[in-house]
Amino acid sequence: MRIIVSIGLIISLVSCSLVLPIKVDPAEDIQIEGTPERLARGEYLVEQVSGCTDCHSQRDWSLFTAPVKSGTHGAGGELFNEDAGAPGNIYTPNITPAALGSWSDGEIVRAIVCGVSRDGTPLFPIMPYPNYAHMSKEDIYSMVAYLRTLEPIENNIPKRKLNFPLNLIVRTMPKQAEFGVLPYPSDRIAYGKYMTIAAGCADCHTPMEKGRPVKGMEFAGGFTMGMPSGGQVSSANITPHETGIKNWTRRGFIQRFKALDNEAASRVPLVKGQINTIMPWTYYAKMDSSDLGAIYDYLMSVPAVDNKVIIYPEM
Ligand code: HEC
Ligand code: HEC
Repeated sequence: MRIIVSIGLIISLVSCSLVLPIKVDPAEDIQIEGTPERLARGEYLVEQVSGCTDCHSQRDWSLFTAPVKSGTHGAGGELFNEDAGAPGNIYTPNITPAALGSWSDGEIVRAIVCGVSRDGTPLFPIMPYPNYAHMSKEDIYSMVAYLRTLEPIENNIPKRKLNFPLNLIVRTMPKQAEFGVLPYPSDRIAYGKYMTIAAGCADCHTPMEKGRPVKGMEFAGGFTMGMPSGGQVSSANITPHETGIKNWTRRGFIQRFKALDNEAASRVPLVKGQINTIMPWTYYAKMDSSDLGAIYDYLMSVPAVDNKVIIYPEM
């Protein structure tokens, strides 16, 4: 009986992976010209806003905010495992030209906005492609132009291992992207929303249940993540509620980031017993003050959620 049940299970799993087609078109046949404007915009987005080289590099967890280890910039190899809230072991791939050199521009665009790798493998959305799908085509093209200029670093990345059933469900996650439009900066809230999505603030600041964000808790914090250097940290409530950032001024908000905009700030060793933070403060510190201000304006417009978070739950 048991054997029959497990054979049945195996058959249904195999057929399930066959009938779950990936609903994404083939990569577009395009050639992206690396104009000076695109390279500058791409560098800004990749290095200071969208977390690309923050995730796709190895991080030094013995230093506060875990800055990138030298010699690993863009070369991948950082592990997301169950402690970090991932359903399995997922390593960030190498995105330097040593790995992407043979990819076409269209294939890189498709990976960034649709979540499909060059060989058709569906990417797990730790890679925040659902966010990037809302960005403008021009911004994504700029990122690709800039990625081509990274220093090539050879680094072979271990294969990912996704737990059941996500190893099957992942096939349903890639989506055809509809590009967005970059609003005029004078439209503070729409522009701030665009930058907030590009920077992935909600990905950490919204609590997750079974791999999905909890409805009604957008930006309310309380997503607890294990730190590779030990201990756990919960994301803060960044909605305009008393338990969030209601009493923060715009200037204080920008200042909190900008205070870390220097080399020394990303070289501060943790003291004994100190728990690290996953919030990439020193990475975002390089964002333009006006963009940080727009993010503040947008956050002040989202629904206020009453949620008192204890940032270091074990202390
Ligand atoms: C939160 C971490 C994170 C951020 C931020 C992130 N990525 Fe990724 N990225 C990943 C992971 C993890 C994978 C692999 C996912 C998998 O194997 O299922 C990946 C996959 C990719 C791939 C496919 C590589 C391959 O070999 O299949 C590309 C290209 C890529 N990312 C580029 C980018 C760019 C460009 C950005 C910024 C716009 C970015 N990533 C931001 C974590 C991240
Ligand atoms: C990789 C996860 C992650 C991302 C991405 C992230 N945060 Fe955070 N954030 C945290 C965690 C964890 C904390 C709490 C620990 C700390 O203060 O460093 C935090 C703290 C904060 C705080 C401090 C709140 C307080 O009460 O002290 C602010 C403000 C904030 N984040 C805003 C943002 C904004 C804006 C973005 C997007 C630009 C963002 N965060 C992206 C994880 C993240």
